[in-house]
Amino acid sequence: MSKDFERRLDSVLPTVAARFGTPFHIYDERGIQETCSAFEAAFQHTAYREHFAVKGLPNPVMLRMLADRGLGFDCSSLPELTLAAQAGAVGHDICFTSNNTSRVELEAALRLGALITVDDVTVFDKLVAIGDVPETLCFRVHPGTGGAEVGESYLGKAESAKFGVPVDRLVELCARARQHGVRSIGLHMMLGSGFLSYQPFLRSLDLLLEQADRLHESLGVAIEFVNLGGGIGIPYRPTEDVFDLPGLGRAIHDRLARWERRHGVPRPRVLFESGRFVTGPHGVLVTRVVNRMSKGREYVGVDAGMSALMRPALYGAYHHVTVPGGADRPLEIVDVVGSLCENNDKFAQQRELPATREGDFVLIHDTGAHALSMGFAYNGRLRPQELLFRRDGSVERIRRAENEGDYFATLDFAPLRLAPSELPVGAV
Ligand SMILES: Cc1ncc(COP(=O)(O)O)c(C=O)c1O
Repeated sequence: MSKDFERRLDSVLPTVAARFGTPFHIYDERGIQETCSAFEAAFQHTAYREHFAVKGLPNPVMLRMLADRGLGFDCSSLPELTLAAQAGAVGHDICFTSNNTSRVELEAALRLGALITVDDVTVFDKLVAIGDVPETLCFRVHPGTGGAEVGESYLGKAESAKFGVPVDRLVELCARARQHGVRSIGLHMMLGSGFLSYQPFLRSLDLLLEQADRLHESLGVAIEFVNLGGGIGIPYRPTEDVFDLPGLGRAIHDRLARWERRHGVPRPRVLFESGRFVTGPHGVLVTRVVNRMSKGREYVGVDAGMSALMRPALYGAYHHVTVPGGADRPLEIVDVVGSLCENNDKFAQQRELPATREGDFVLIHDTGAHALSMGFAYNGRLRPQELLFRRDGSVERIRRAENEGDYFATLDFAPLRLAPSELPVGAV
């Protein structure tokens, strides 16, 4: 969360909370627009497109804002495809980068004319079986041990990740694709997530260009685009540096220019599927203290929990926590907790924070991506509302909080029954 957003939010917080109630995620339009501008500036000399990863922040108002800004979308499920289409995306505005993909999902992506990323040979087999192999296809490459040296992330070590076509099967698969009428080929690789240095992206690019060389030599195919995935990190900790996007832009431009000179084939376009980098730092979860408990540790119980933000519980991820107006208060070491019946329902553990009492605001930073969208309804602890802090200073509710009606909605369905007489003989 930028200092500027924090300052602007602080000045309106009591009024916004009085109007909408807490908890809420609030997103900063100004900050998101500035990040879009930063992308444009960093890649001004490269033919590129950023496809926002819908999984990061699947809210129609936000997606429309990004579409108006010229971004495409990265989708990996049917509802994400629907959201992208509703935001106005058509054809190759959408990258469909799924895994463990079903035929139904592929058919939906084909209907929209999305750019399909083949994550496994079975995806290609399904396209053949459907009888609709697109002229343009992207192949996600599994780097094998080649990608391992960039380190680990929550996607797992490259050699044990479930994603992608193994490099040693790529040429064979692309040859088949050509036989089925594929004319334009792109390659995809995502080594991990949350990288704060740009070296892993250059490593992906190099690995993909190596494969581009192989495809050119063996099949005479020139790769038209490379998709470097998402994974650009944001500084969740105040001590971390901001990702050097201009540096990545320059390095990619130089790499591709050198490659083009050496190989005499046009350099591929560059696609990204960043989610976190675009919206992550521009969201904050606003909560209020509902309980102060003292037993072994000091606990600050707030009115939101894992259903609003799972990352700390799921990955042990750090999210910065602040207490507005707390600068002059004494500090104490606390755990900031939600109400789920899980002991890891904690936004922060043993964190030094200004002393709080019931009713105080507590802000959980950097919840603009992979926050509400990862939430779940376990324990009937429902997901909070989303607000948008517009550039003109207005604040708008862009998703209401879940209520009991939503929680019970899946119990409301037409009766469907399998009679004993329909079961195999002897089953009952
Ligand atoms: C294939 C793919 N693309 C894009 C993303 C978005 O990643 P991030 O939000 O870290 O940029 C992910 C995240 O899991 C992903 O798996």
